Amino acid sequence: MAKKLSTQVVHAGEKRVKSHHALTTPIYQTSTYTFENTQDMVDFMEARLWGDEIEREEYGRYGNPTAAAVEAKLAQLDGGEAACLFSSGMAAVTTTLLSLLGAGSHIIYTNDSYRRTRQFITQFLSRYGVESTQVPMGDYAALEAAIQPNTKVILSESPTNPYLRVLDLEKLVAIAQKHGVKTVIDSTFATPINQRPLEFGVDFVVHSATKYLGGHNDLLAGVVIGSGYMVGAVRDLRGILGDVSDPQTAYLLLRGIKTLELRVQRQNDTAARIAHFLAQHPAVRRVYYPGLASHPDHTVAAAQMSGFGGVVSFELDTDFEGTGQFIDRLEIPYIGPSLGGVESLVEQVALVSYFDLSTEERMAIGISDGLVRLAVGIEAADDLLADLAQALDKSFNTETLFQAVNGSGKVSPMVLYRR
Ligand SMILES: Cc1ncc(COP(=O)(O)O)c(C=O)c1O
Repeated sequence: MAKKLSTQVVHAGEKRVKSHHALTTPIYQTSTYTFENTQDMVDFMEARLWGDEIEREEYGRYGNPTAAAVEAKLAQLDGGEAACLFSSGMAAVTTTLLSLLGAGSHIIYTNDSYRRTRQFITQFLSRYGVESTQVPMGDYAALEAAIQPNTKVILSESPTNPYLRVLDLEKLVAIAQKHGVKTVIDSTFATPINQRPLEFGVDFVVHSATKYLGGHNDLLAGVVIGSGYMVGAVRDLRGILGDVSDPQTAYLLLRGIKTLELRVQRQNDTAARIAHFLAQHPAVRRVYYPGLASHPDHTVAAAQMSGFGGVVSFELDTDFEGTGQFIDRLEIPYIGPSLGGVESLVEQVALVSYFDLSTEERMAIGISDGLVRLAVGIEAADDLLADLAQALDKSFNTETLFQAVNGSGKVSPMVLYRR
């Protein structure tokens, strides 16, 4: 019987009996693996030549047993046949795309995605003769119209960063399969707890494991998951590029994933409460959270996700400096550019990701100076709500704003949203 995700995060992919009967999977701190004699080596080489399943390792750039346990666990969690672990999320994205694209091919990608991914496509792949087209998130007619005879890949994040847009995976797959194009979904913001794109027919799922999978803001890793055949090609390229995860990191990741379901459920709940609180606050212009009915993709998200995630983006009714002052008044979240760990992190998007652009240039691509991204950790929701309330109070005349809106004076988030 298929086990539930909360059981799988603990047990999937790991041998029941491990070396020396240890309970935990050991860190195999080795760069190379030895052979008993020449025949042993001949058997291995022959098996590899014929593509037979091989139980052992040869050299650290091609595989490691600790990393293999993580790969097996993540493949099961996302419902794929195989997974390949990398030294970072970007290594997973870039190696997967390099394995699928060559000179003369074409990739379509959606906007509102991680800036480095877009830079890799427009500034790096373009140097090697790969064409690209960016299409607006949620415009399926534009997506289909962008497909050319040489289109090989459609890539999108879902949910996206920073606006948490959610792609309709059923529509995406229908369009891609009609034209014989492979699909890659960066599901970092969702994790397999909230969304499993392979079940919709997506070809590859990518995660920055640095975020929720690792979960403790203490490692960098990435993973791609899909069919054994296609992930095998990515793995072969990883063996050439060498962007592997080291055994210590693989162990930390394995350990982090064991609490993934608990953490993500907490982060889903807290983020939802924060989104509702911010949505009724008069100093907040707009809240972007797929769990809110006001979000453009709420219906799609509710249908294809089992949770809306731990990131809330919102726009304050102030300028660049005012936004920074609000952030500085927060006492619990750290200011920093990541998400998904146990500590809450907050960033002013215009500053962290788009500081090189002017306010006008940022506005042209939809990034306002008042945009804040809050990645909630596992702290108590009540404490985070109280912290946001005090920072908003100090930054804005909240009482006057509330009176202007509903004449009732200050409304405590603790009263409104305590559960
Ligand atoms: C959605 C998404 N994909 C990929 C990456 C890159 O991951 P890493 O920082 O692990 O290289 C990030 C990093 O922020 C991300 O947010």
